[in-house]
Amino acid sequence: MFESLKPVAMDPILGLMAAFRADTRTNKIDLGVGVYMNDLGLTPVMTSVKEAETQLMQLETTKSYQGIAGDPDYNQRILELLFGADHSILNSGRIKSIQTPGGSGALRVGAEVIQRARPEAKLWVGVPTWPNHIPLLGGAGFEIEEYPYYNRDSHQIETQAMLETLGQVPAGDMVLLHGCCHNPTGADLTHEQWDLIADLALERGFIPFIDTAYQGLGDGLDEDAYGLRMMAERLPELVVASSCSKNFGLYRERTGSITFIADSAEQADIVASQTMSVARQMYSMPPAHGALLVSLVLGDQQLRASWEAELTEVRERIQSMRSLLADNIRNNAAGIDFSHIKQQKGMFSFLGLNTAQLDQLREEYGVYIVSSSRVNLAGINSNNIGYLSDSILSVLK
Ligand SMILES: Cc1ncc(COP(=O)(O)O)c(C=O)c1O
Repeated sequence: MFESLKPVAMDPILGLMAAFRADTRTNKIDLGVGVYMNDLGLTPVMTSVKEAETQLMQLETTKSYQGIAGDPDYNQRILELLFGADHSILNSGRIKSIQTPGGSGALRVGAEVIQRARPEAKLWVGVPTWPNHIPLLGGAGFEIEEYPYYNRDSHQIETQAMLETLGQVPAGDMVLLHGCCHNPTGADLTHEQWDLIADLALERGFIPFIDTAYQGLGDGLDEDAYGLRMMAERLPELVVASSCSKNFGLYRERTGSITFIADSAEQADIVASQTMSVARQMYSMPPAHGALLVSLVLGDQQLRASWEAELTEVRERIQSMRSLLADNIRNNAAGIDFSHIKQQKGMFSFLGLNTAQLDQLREEYGVYIVSSSRVNLAGINSNNIGYLSDSILSVLK
C-alpha cells in the first residue's frame, strides 16, 4: 500500500532547527524557531503556570474523559480574556467557544465548521501570512485568495491596496486577520485600519476570521484585543481562533480555543453543536492539562497577577531587544533601514536581508534565520546582542 507514497519535504524551519542543533559553535544564535526565550536563551515554564501545576497535582482526582468542548470553566475564562469580562457579547447568547488542541487545532476546527456552513466560501489571506495558515485552512477545503498586506520595501502595511482588495471581497467569503503581533511581519493593524475593515465587512458582507496567538505580547492584554472586541460589537458574525501557547508558554500542552459569534442565539446553538460534531470526528476531545492550568491561573487573583507580571516582562524584554537591535545596526554600509523593527510588535519582524547574506550569517557566524529573513526577536539576549549586531553589520558591508 505505502509504495505509492512519496516523501514529503521537511518544513524548512525544522531543517534549520536541526542544522542549529548540529552546529558545535558556542556562540551560535537561533532566530528561526518561534518560541519565546528569556534573557538566558531559555523557554522555562512560567512561575504562575508552575504554581498552578503544583496545585493541580492536589486538586486533580481523575483522568477520566472530559467533554468534547473541554473544560467549561476554561472556556468561560478564555472568553473573558479575549473579549473583556464586561463585553456585551458575553451575555448575548450569540457567542460559543470550545477548547481545542492549540491555536492550530482552533484554526482547523473553525475552517471545518465554516466549510459545513458555506462550502463555496473562499478564504482571503494577507500576503504574507504565517505559512502554516495555508495547509491548515486550505486542507479543510477552502479555496485561498490573497490580499496585499505588507510592503517589504517600505516596511509598512499596504493600507490602500489592502482596503481596495477587501472592498471587492464577495459576501459570505472569509477574511483572515491576525489579532495582534502579526506573524511573520510584526506589522499590526492600527485601530483606524481595524475600523475600516469592519466597515467593509458590514458593507460587503464578508466575515472576519481572526487568528490571535499572541495576546499580551504586543501592547498589553486589553490593547492587543482591540480588533476582535470592536468587531464583536459591530459585526453580526465573527470567528476567532486563539492560542495559549505563547502567552502562557504552554506550547506542547496544545491549549487553544475556537470561538464563533452568530447572528442570533438560536444560530449560535446550532454552530456549537456542529463544532462539537467536527471535533468529535477529528480528535474526540482536547487534551486537558494545559486548559486546567489556564483555568487555575485566570481564576486565582494571586496567580493571575503573577502571570500578568510575567507576561509584561516578556513583552518588555522583546521590545527592548527590538530597540537595541535597531539602534545597533542603524548605520550600516548597505543603507538598509532597520527602524521599523522598533515600532513593530510581538516576536517577529523581517530583517530584509537577501539569501546570500542569510547564508553568510549562518555559515560564517552561526546565526540561523529562515529564508524569508523573518527573525524571532526573543532569540536575542544581552549576551548575544553585541555579536549578533556585529555579524549583521559584517554581512551588510
Ligand atoms: C499566527 C499563528 N497562529 C496560530 C499559531 C498556532 O499556535 P499553536 O498551535 O502552537 O497554539 C501560531 C504559532 O506559531 C501562529 O504564529
